[in-house]
Parts: sequence; C-alpha cells; structure tokens
Amino acid sequence: MKRIKLAIAGLGNCASSLIQGIEYYKQVDEKDCIGLMHYDIGGYRAGDIDVVAAFDIDARKVGKDVSEAIFAMPNCTKVFYPDVPKKGVEVKMGPVLDGVALHMENYPENKRFVVSDIKPCNVKRELEDSGADVLVNYMPVGSEQATRFYAQAALDAGTGFVNCMPVFIASDPKWARKFQERGVPIVGDDIKSQIGATIVHRALAQLFKDRACVMDRTYQLNIGGNTDFLNMLSRERLKSKKISKTEAVQSILDTPLCDDDIHIGPSDYVPWQKDNKVCFLRMEGRIFGDVPINLELRLSVEDSPNSGGSSIDAIRVCKLAKDRNIAGPLLAISAYTMKHPPVQYPDEIAKEMVDRFISGEACETEKKRFLSAADNTC
Ligand SMILES: NC(=O)c1ccc[n+]([C@@H]2O[C@H](COP(=O)([O-])OP(=O)(O)OC[C@H]3O[C@@H](n4cnc5c(N)ncnc54)[C@H](O)[C@@H]3O)[C@@H](O)[C@H]2O)c1
Repeated sequence: MKRIKLAIAGLGNCASSLIQGIEYYKQVDEKDCIGLMHYDIGGYRAGDIDVVAAFDIDARKVGKDVSEAIFAMPNCTKVFYPDVPKKGVEVKMGPVLDGVALHMENYPENKRFVVSDIKPCNVKRELEDSGADVLVNYMPVGSEQATRFYAQAALDAGTGFVNCMPVFIASDPKWARKFQERGVPIVGDDIKSQIGATIVHRALAQLFKDRACVMDRTYQLNIGGNTDFLNMLSRERLKSKKISKTEAVQSILDTPLCDDDIHIGPSDYVPWQKDNKVCFLRMEGRIFGDVPINLELRLSVEDSPNSGGSSIDAIRVCKLAKDRNIAGPLLAISAYTMKHPPVQYPDEIAKEMVDRFISGEACETEKKRFLSAADNTC
C-alpha cells in the first residue's frame, strides 16, 4: 500500500485539524465520506498520510508526541477526532526567527505563543532522517524569514513543499526555479480554504461577471479569535496576506478595481470566537439599465478544518508529482488550493486541470513561461 511521509512546520490549529482529519478519514469508506474534494488521488487516500517529523517553537508543544501537541494550548480549534493515537514522533524545536510577533507578549499565555528555551534542531537533517516526502509550512502570517528557512531546508533535503501561508515562495519565480532545478515539487502559496471567504468571494465575483453585472466596490472583513487572528493584529505582518487575498478576487475581474474600491483583509481579533471565523462581505454593482444592486453575505466557519479540506489534496498531489518526477511549481493544484498560486485560473478550470493532472495528463503548459520570469526579475 502506498503511503505519504509528512513533515509539518508549525503545529497550530491548521496542523491539528489536518492530523485529526487524517485519522478521521481512516475510519470512513467512500460512500460515507463527507468533506473531501477527492477521495483518492493517484492511489492515495486521506488516511494514507503518516506524520514523520514536526517542528514548533512553543514550550507546550516541543518535546511532546505530535498526537498530544496538536491539542496543547494555545490551539483552540474544534476537536472532531479526539482519539489521535500516539505517533512516536516528537515535536522538535525549530529556529524562532520572525515566527513570533512582539505584540503577543501583551496577551495571556493561553492565547499566545510561549517560546521554548530548547536549542533548535537541525531541520534539514530531521527531514532527511525521517524520509519525509512533503513538508507543509504553517508559519504565522508575516514570518518571512522562518518560511524561507523551511523552504530552503526542504530544498536541501529534497522534500516536496506545500506552503499554506502568504510568504511568496511557489509564486515567486526565483524560488520556483530553485525547486525546479533541484527536482523537487512545490505547491503554494496561502491555502484557499474549502468554503472560505476567498472562494465564496471569487464565486460571487464570477457570478456578477457571468450575469453582466458591473462590480463597482467590494469589501471582505474577517474576524476570529485564534492565534492566527491575534498575530494578524500587527499591520506590518499583513502586507503579503492582503496582497494574496486581494489578488485572489481581483484576478476574476476583467478590469481590476482601483485600490479605494476594494478592501479585503483580517479586521479584528475577538478572543471568544476561538477558531470560528466570521466573514462579512459586501459587493456593490450595477445591473440592467445601470440600476444599482448590493449584496451582503455573512459566512461563519471553523477556520482550521476548512483549511484541512484543501491541504489534504495539496499534500497528496505534491507526493504524486514526486512519484512521477515532476518538479518545480505545480500550477494546477496550486491554483485549486491556494489563494496566491504561480498562475491564477478560474476555479472550475483549476479543478478540471487538477483532475487531468491526477489522471496523468500534462496540463502545466504555462510553467515554462512562469519560470522564465525569474530571468527578468532582479
Ligand atoms: N483557514 C485557515 O486557517 C487558513 C487559511 C489560509 C492560510 N492560513 C495560514 O496558515 C498559517 C497557519 O495557521 P494556523 O491557524 O495553524 O496558525 P497557528 O497560529 O494556530 O499556528 C502557528 C504555529 O506555528 C508555530 N511557530 C511559530 N514560529 C515558528 C517557527 N519559527 N518554527 C516552527 N513553528 C513556529 C506556533 O507555535 C504555532 O504552533 C497561518 O499563516 C495562516 O494565516 C490559514
């Protein structure tokens, strides 16, 4: 039976949901399966993933077995599968770099990261020794150095990389080229959740476009109470997150809205909401006869299982690419599961491309053009 060896950087809420999901789906057969966009990907089912290495910096997680660390504070996501068996995989200390925002110090320990004083491990060696096929990066928003560190470690160890956060690696032609040349696949950047604010906003923007409604203005305000939202109170850490979320919607439009007419981003931290994210979305436009219309939507969703629904596919396609010796940025799965992929495609086309990729058809025709952009950037 084929298995996937997975390493994880950042055992926060997203990692907790992903690992719970892997165990949950071991118990469910195809006809009773709820919540997977693909049951089987080239022979890999969701339960065929084994966590073999994990890195964090929090004193309540480092040194623990992965199965315990995912339920440690300050993680607060819904526990939908509590019986995760002991993995025999100890969470290793990673280098802190810029992973921890300074303002977190002002919050109680049960809400924020608490940095361990253990010496960082050699991440590249851990990846090699564990034989990890894929490393998933769940660094907090704004962790530019930490994300580049883990991306480089994956490159050096020859481990596939799935970048779930908005520091641009797969969508940066220079980094993408490095993965191509090293013969390692990469998926990224910034996970686009299963039914999250981004995919809903994109679908509605597409609907406006398909029905000849001009969109004049829009906003998407998001609030939540997990460490992701606490971290994002720091505006300096938000730059790439804002770009990623805004471009995901702008890319649907024939003519992008000017900056004043589009506002998308995390808006506040409400501790009691924990991992429940609420999105308030408004779109203003004009229909037949130049007559105004506005649309308001409120989406409430548990944030981290929502990301798991996408990362479970990104990981399996990354491994499938590795099996097939396909390297560099994987355009189809990145467009399907990420907000800021190397190349944006409408979601229904991205889905079709992923299905063709899984069945073995080539569909990465724009890869050469994307990679050649590395020569034109300084
Ligand atoms: N639906 C979603 O939840 C969603 C969607 C899109 C993107 N993302 C992004 O995914 C990332 C992870 O989200 P999350 O909710 O799991 O965050 P989280 O705050 O729950 O977890 C982050 C983890 O990283 C650890 N960490 C910090 N610095 C580190 C370092 N240098 N090395 C190793 N570990 C380190 C923290 O201790 C914590 O365990 C965030 O950037 C988030 O914006 C999440």
